[in-house]
Amino acid sequence: MWDYNDKVMSHFLKPQNVGEVENADAVGDVGNMTCGDALKLTLKIEGGRIVDAKFKTFGCASAIASSSALTELVKGMTIEEAEKVTNQDIVDVLGELPEEKMHCSVMGMEALQAAIADYRGEAPPDAEDEHEGRIVCTCFGVTDVKIRKIAKENNIKEAENVKNYCKAGGGCGGCLDDIQSILDGLWRGDEGSDDSASEGMSIVQKVMKIQEVLEKEIKPLLERDGGGIELVDIQGDLVKVSLRGRCAMCPTSHLTMRNVVQEKLREFVSPALEVEEVK
Ligand code: FES
Repeated sequence: MWDYNDKVMSHFLKPQNVGEVENADAVGDVGNMTCGDALKLTLKIEGGRIVDAKFKTFGCASAIASSSALTELVKGMTIEEAEKVTNQDIVDVLGELPEEKMHCSVMGMEALQAAIADYRGEAPPDAEDEHEGRIVCTCFGVTDVKIRKIAKENNIKEAENVKNYCKAGGGCGGCLDDIQSILDGLWRGDEGSDDSASEGMSIVQKVMKIQEVLEKEIKPLLERDGGGIELVDIQGDLVKVSLRGRCAMCPTSHLTMRNVVQEKLREFVSPALEVEEVK
């Protein structure tokens, strides 16, 4: 028996929002045949906001708890807010999950992303990853693109830990060396075309690039909600910023910092960047 905390047990024993939303506007159907987990998420969306969310899950206690937590988390969110939800946000609702069960939270995030793609008439993000990348783990068909994405979102540095999130490396183990070199390259910032943007930059160029991304990619997103952001300082890979307007008063500003500010800076400048809010 896994050592689950009270929150996980509560969501498992009394799951919230079980079932299917009638006349759903979005459906996210994902399954992990390897461990037998499957999740169907249905959403009711009105005026761009999720007004109802329900789930049907086949799986273990942590899969059910993650699904229940996911539905509670996304109800009331706009689609733009929901698409930034990470598996770590689901874990935060639960307090914690055993490392070996983190893939259940990833399944929740993937169901949400699939539902949003369905609402927009697009292909699920995972399908894009599979077409884009090189298959690294042949046992489970996991690509380098997916490994980088999951490693970045969950700060994974050891190949052995990847299997807890997406199964890669959890079969014959023949891909573990390859996974480790992908992770090493990712955290050095020299693996993958998008991740190498800061390679060879001088300090001045790096500062200018960070300022450019803040102005062009991040500020417009925050200003849509009446917020803003100012660069305070850069110390190595630590970027200190101050939130302005509504963002500064928002109780979920830590999510904005991680899911918007840090995510964009890592995407456009360097995956090694960490962001800290200065009040
Ligand atoms: S090839 Fe990845 S576990 Fe076998």
